[in-house]
Amino acid sequence: MIKSPPTCEALFDSNTHHSPAPLTIGSVVVDPPILQAPMAGFTNYAFRQIVREFGGVGLQATEMVNARGFVWLDERAEHPDRLWGVADEARPLAVQIWDNDPETMARVGSRLVSEHRVSIVDINFGCPVKKVTQRAHSGSYLLSQPERMGQIIEGLVAACAPTPVTAKIRLGCTRDKINAIDIAQVVEGAGAAALTVHGRTAQDMFSGNADWDRISAIKPYLKKIPLIGNGDLDSPQAVVKAFANYAIDGVMIARACLGRPWLFSQCAAALRGLAIPPDPSPLEQRDIMLKHYALIVDRFGESKGTVLMRKYASCYAQGKPGARNFRSLIAKVGDAQEFHHVVNEHFPVTT
Ligand SMILES: Cc1cc2nc3c(=O)[nH]c(=O)nc-3n(C[C@H](O)[C@H](O)[C@H](O)COP(=O)(O)O)c2cc1C
Repeated sequence: MIKSPPTCEALFDSNTHHSPAPLTIGSVVVDPPILQAPMAGFTNYAFRQIVREFGGVGLQATEMVNARGFVWLDERAEHPDRLWGVADEARPLAVQIWDNDPETMARVGSRLVSEHRVSIVDINFGCPVKKVTQRAHSGSYLLSQPERMGQIIEGLVAACAPTPVTAKIRLGCTRDKINAIDIAQVVEGAGAAALTVHGRTAQDMFSGNADWDRISAIKPYLKKIPLIGNGDLDSPQAVVKAFANYAIDGVMIARACLGRPWLFSQCAAALRGLAIPPDPSPLEQRDIMLKHYALIVDRFGESKGTVLMRKYASCYAQGKPGARNFRSLIAKVGDAQEFHHVVNEHFPVTT
């Protein structure tokens, strides 16, 4: 049964409520100031398209793209796949890239701007996985090398101008070396147009809670560019509270939107002080998932597309009764018939 939608009045101090101003990143207007995070393996064209149709998202981001591979190995499968849809889809759209070499990053940025006309080039300074940090000295590894970060940003800004360049960081590499305030100043000084901060260190991975006080503490040190807070936002209420309680200009949502692509529309309504639209009905949610599946199969073919869709389907089931059973069955499907069979049998799961 669908609960009646909460109104937002209770979320606001009724006399002081006003929606946060649209965010501007260089010349790009991000309205509402709610961003869809880059997520490797998830935020490809199909997912972005589903999110976009619900609305409420001010800026969407691709999965991270390895800059070195992009420059040298265009024909390698990863890059066409990771840039799937980018050339033609609606704007604004940010493409996120990672590497530790300023020249490589600049070359890739310049191509993304000239060949793909992306709205924003975002740099990944937050990825904590070993393949990126220990092996490639990139992502969050660079938080310990602010000088190198500055060189990467400066080179990219010059190569991409007037397209804005942004940076996404964590609070630091380890809990005893939190240096987000210093890093923020390097990022701004090097010419970036916005800073997104995930309120954990690389050491934390995803444990504990995002530290929004530390995100907020960065704000006084940024003179010109907006600060976007990220970490653990999973409801319209959480987004409204983030704007009310912390000194941020925008918010970014990652994990919570994977199985709820309609979350942005709910958050946007809440920020505007409007009634929060209810979740789609179970049948509607099933149709959204099937549409997602059709987009994936269209791109990757039935066999690879079905395997890829297993993880997205599991996200849609998350938090629902019967999710565990659904997940174990969907993990074994190999073609469209099996996929549809499991979905029709087990999703929507009636309460
Ligand atoms: C599966 C997955 C993939 C991710 N991939 C990226 C990525 O490619 N680039 C990036 O900057 N962050 C990536 N992140 C981190 C998220 O963008 C975000 O910073 C983090 O999940 C915290 O936000 P949340 O609490 O809303 O999930 C990823 C996170 C997850 C769960």
